[in-house]
Amino acid sequence: MEVSILEKAFDIIVKDLVKKYDRIVALKGVSFAVEHGEIFGLLGPNGAGKTTLVHILTTLIKPTAGSAVVAGHNIIEEPDEVRKSIGIVFQEPSLALNLTGYENLYIHGKLYGLRGRELKERIKEVLRFVDLYEHKDRVVKDYSGGMRRRLEIARALLHEPEVLFLDEPTLGLDPHIRARIWEYIKELNKEKKVTIFLTTHYIEEAEALCRRVAIIDQGRIIALGAPEELKSIIRSDVIYVSADIHEADICHILRIMGFHDCIPVGKGRVMLRVEKATEAIPGIVRALEKYGVMVREVSYRRPSLNEVFLYLVGREIVKEGVRPMERFRRFMR
Ligand SMILES: Nc1ncnc2c1ncn2[C@@H]1O[C@H](COP(=O)(O)OP(=O)(O)OP(=O)(O)O)[C@@H](O)[C@H]1O
Ligand SMILES: [Mg+2]
Repeated sequence: MEVSILEKAFDIIVKDLVKKYDRIVALKGVSFAVEHGEIFGLLGPNGAGKTTLVHILTTLIKPTAGSAVVAGHNIIEEPDEVRKSIGIVFQEPSLALNLTGYENLYIHGKLYGLRGRELKERIKEVLRFVDLYEHKDRVVKDYSGGMRRRLEIARALLHEPEVLFLDEPTLGLDPHIRARIWEYIKELNKEKKVTIFLTTHYIEEAEALCRRVAIIDQGRIIALGAPEELKSIIRSDVIYVSADIHEADICHILRIMGFHDCIPVGKGRVMLRVEKATEAIPGIVRALEKYGVMVREVSYRRPSLNEVFLYLVGREIVKEGVRPMERFRRFMR
């Protein structure tokens, strides 16, 4: 009874998920729920466990412990039902490069049991949605990175899923192409009422798209809420100071001078939380100059999710794609 009430409101319910790969514990007891019709983001650095979670929720791998219900079906007891109700765009490209855009979709549609006229109509609709209909007869090899990503989104939409999983949908794409893909994602959610679960390590992406964001680090969710709620964890202005000495030494001096909330960011740069930046900056510069430190740059702003992550984890989300070594390991696996 309790479960069915929950399932009406939530498209994804995750309870205490744990995933161990030999010695690595990729997920250490993850719980959350995604409401019907929302865009929910999982934001975290490389190796945080994002893809592992997507693979479990889409039934590609089994959890070591814990459970989850996706679109009303248990991922362990009813994997086929889950698969029929979801669409997936994988982190790694997964298109057949020697086939045309149309052929890629045709094969996928057949796998999902679509046939004849219905299949053709669906292909046309999804290709039009991502503005690729004109390019349907070109081989995917000749598509740009952004076109390939759009084709993967179209493919995931063919069988009209209730829930769409996007694992790093804009990884490595240029900012203007990224913005275009964000438009498709928003439209899908708004017009077609698809619930969207996306992972990203781009702060701007989480802020631009998601109604709620879970921040994940080393297999644990460390914060969850609307971007504005998360930012209100830092009830203050944020100041960045860079100088000609090591960041740990900058913090050391500033702490002695009474600025206790100082976090070293790296490369001679620190972050400080203060109530009013404009009032605090002269004192900060004076404090450092008193110790003969040359201040290179001072800037301040209202906190973004980047500062929230820095505050909670003590380091920045590294803005890089998949590390080359990790890519190689995945390929070998
Ligand atoms: N098949 C596997 N075998 C062993 N270890 C794995 C496997 N898949 C993932 N891992 C490890 O589990 C951890 C989580 O990896 P995962 O790919 O889920 O992270 P991620 O957040 O998606 O990272 P990225 O941002 O790089 O895509 C990492 O330490 C990774 O090396
Ligand atoms: Mg990943």
